[in-house]
Amino acid sequence: MVSSSLRAGLATSAMLLALASAPNSVVADESVLGIYVFHRHGDRTSKSWPPTMLTALGADEVYASGNYFRDRYVAANASSRISAVATDIAVLAQVAVTAPVDNVLQSSANVFTQSLYPPAGTAAQQTLANGTVTEAPFSGYQYIPVNIVSSAASASGSEDSEWLQGGSGCNNAIISSNNYFLSSEYLTTLNSTSAFYTSLLPVINTTFTSAQDSFKNAYTIYDYVHVAEIHNATIPSSDLLTNDTLHQLQTRADQHEWGLAYNESDTIRAISGAVLAGQILQSLNTTAQAVPTATSTTRLNFQFGAYGTFMSFFGLANLTAASPNFYGIVDYASAIVFELVTNASIADATKAVDPSELSVRFLFANGSAGIVGGLTEYPLFGQTELVLPWTTFASEMNKFAISNTVSWCNACGNNTGVCDPSLLGTGSSTSNNNATSSSNNNSGGGVSRPVAGVIGALVTLGVILGLEAIVMLIGGLRLVKKNVAVAGKAASNGA
Ligand SMILES: *[C@@H]1O[C@H](CO)[C@@H](O)[C@H](O)[C@H]1NC(C)=O
Ligand SMILES: *[C@@H]1O[C@H](CO)[C@@H](O)[C@H](O)[C@H]1NC(C)=O
Ligand SMILES: *[C@@H]1O[C@H](CO)[C@@H](O)[C@H](O)[C@H]1NC(C)=O
Ligand SMILES: *[C@@H]1O[C@H](CO)[C@@H](O)[C@H](O)[C@H]1NC(C)=O
Ligand SMILES: *[C@@H]1O[C@H](CO)[C@@H](O)[C@H](O)[C@H]1NC(C)=O
Ligand SMILES: *[C@@H]1O[C@H](CO)[C@@H](O)[C@H](O)[C@H]1NC(C)=O
Ligand SMILES: *[C@@H]1O[C@H](CO)[C@@H](O)[C@H](O)[C@H]1NC(C)=O
Ligand SMILES: *[C@@H]1O[C@H](CO)[C@@H](O)[C@H](O)[C@H]1NC(C)=O
Ligand SMILES: *[C@@H]1O[C@H](CO)[C@@H](O)[C@H](O)[C@H]1NC(C)=O
Ligand SMILES: *[C@@H]1O[C@H](CO)[C@@H](O)[C@H](O)[C@H]1NC(C)=O
Ligand SMILES: *[C@@H]1O[C@H](CO)[C@@H](O)[C@H](O)[C@H]1NC(C)=O
Ligand SMILES: *[C@@H]1O[C@H](CO)[C@@H](O)[C@H](O)[C@H]1NC(C)=O
Repeated sequence: MVSSSLRAGLATSAMLLALASAPNSVVADESVLGIYVFHRHGDRTSKSWPPTMLTALGADEVYASGNYFRDRYVAANASSRISAVATDIAVLAQVAVTAPVDNVLQSSANVFTQSLYPPAGTAAQQTLANGTVTEAPFSGYQYIPVNIVSSAASASGSEDSEWLQGGSGCNNAIISSNNYFLSSEYLTTLNSTSAFYTSLLPVINTTFTSAQDSFKNAYTIYDYVHVAEIHNATIPSSDLLTNDTLHQLQTRADQHEWGLAYNESDTIRAISGAVLAGQILQSLNTTAQAVPTATSTTRLNFQFGAYGTFMSFFGLANLTAASPNFYGIVDYASAIVFELVTNASIADATKAVDPSELSVRFLFANGSAGIVGGLTEYPLFGQTELVLPWTTFASEMNKFAISNTVSWCNACGNNTGVCDPSLLGTGSSTSNNNATSSSNNNSGGGVSRPVAGVIGALVTLGVILGLEAIVMLIGGLRLVKKNVAVAGKAASNGA
């Protein structure tokens, strides 16, 4: 186990260091204990013609990504083999793959599992009581469920399906994203780009009217043209689509979607990134608390989700300080990865690694890691270190992570459905939430849950009424609302 988790490059530099400074000391040998991956879907059809579908090209992209993750973390000769993880026959307790109910995201997750644990042929054969040898279809295809979440990995238990798209249905986040359309940045850009969009109308006029042809629809217009560039050899007036024009279409879409996903002075807008952060923390914490040699712990976490969630997380984790590229919409089949690593010896471990010896490394591939050349490390939280001590990582993440229903409902100002105060007050929604619920109750300055819920509702109502008044003053209420609905749907469904 130990030697197989040895990373050639690190080992070489560690050896040089050891030789130079302390010839007799044991060479540091880094082990990966587990990973959390957030992954975008592969190439798909246009949002303008629902329902969207994963294309063959998109499946190939995600398949290549799965191959990359297998070669890096899972295979017997993997470069950063994860401790105690099964190599060829998947052990379901070790793998958690989740995706929202969505054509392209769920299909992508399924494709990904095909290359993460490919058909195992004779190795996957099973012998029946009567001696007959059986093999699953497609040469021993392995069926890894998408959407199982081990109960230990999540304090919110059966509510996970609600949580997966934390951005959808969060009242205050919806209001905040709506406010983007009132910001001077948006209005200035809407005005300054109107000639640009008008000039492109002949390219898109089979699908967009001249009234829709503006920065207001920057993402859907970009998406339509982008998909056509890949799939349609006969784009009308394609001579208008110069490299400069395509570049501007993309960067305007980036700007528009960033505006909806994150605002430094109004961070509730980034609710989906905050929920993702909570899920990452909880999952890695579960792995951290397990014995490194334990074979029934979740070590491979893959969540498939929307580009908007990437953006919200990039904003919250201050990744834009590491590279301005993080302001952009990530390409199809992109992935961010959190490696839980340690230099402690784990070969004969009988207890969990001490938290002080754990670290986290963040990596990113813009596009399928199997195609774009793998993952690149970036420093989180505007810091400079590429490998952060676990305690630092956890405290930085906890500055914005939302990890349970009560916090979510409070932050969102929601008080119906899963946020019904009577449900939250009893804590009956999850068996693990007792401590969290009561600490949140107390932090409300002595206001009991139901009362806090009512206050939240009144404040929310006031905000909505105020907003509508402003929108009506400016005019175009219907257009703004419609556009937000489209954008919100795109973001929540992975676009
Ligand atoms: C691991 O083994 C497989 C098949 O045996 C081979 O295709 C692959 O190149 C090897 N990978 C590394 C990193 O050596
Ligand atoms: C053994 O059981 C399987 C499944 O019930 C059946 O298909 C097969 O014919 C049996 N083989 C013999 C030799 O009875
Ligand atoms: C939160 O509140 C908004 C506005 O009332 C509502 O549309 C949304 O469905 C609620 N979300 C949940 C999860 O109940
Ligand atoms: C960001 O939020 C602030 C405070 O709510 C607001 O004044 C500003 O217009 C917002 N900017 C954008 C681009 O949404
Ligand atoms: C919109 O742009 C035009 C020039 O393209 C300029 O004359 C006008 O003042 C701008 N309006 C606003 C509200 O910025
Ligand atoms: C789209 O624009 C082209 C070029 O200006 C024009 O020939 C065509 O009739 C337009 N189509 C529609 C549906 O408006
Ligand atoms: C390609 O674009 C043309 C012109 O807009 C359209 O008629 C055709 O259906 C498109 N083909 C595909 C495969 O999308
Ligand atoms: C446009 O970009 C493509 C792809 O990057 C490149 O192959 C092509 O040469 C560029 N065309 C011009 C005119 O710069
Ligand atoms: C393990 O040691 C190597 C060499 O000193 C170092 O580069 C690496 O960052 C360390 N990893 C951890 C998790 O501390
Ligand atoms: C992001 O990090 C940079 C560099 O450390 C720092 O200057 C900036 O204030 C940080 N931004 C936020 C929002 O924390
Ligand atoms: C990890 O989980 C344990 C037990 O639930 C908890 O005490 C600890 O605070 C958690 N650590 C982090 C960083 O979330
Ligand atoms: C939660 O609280 C209830 C009532 O106080 C108690 O019966 C139950 O055992 C607690 N659950 C946990 C996991 O602590």
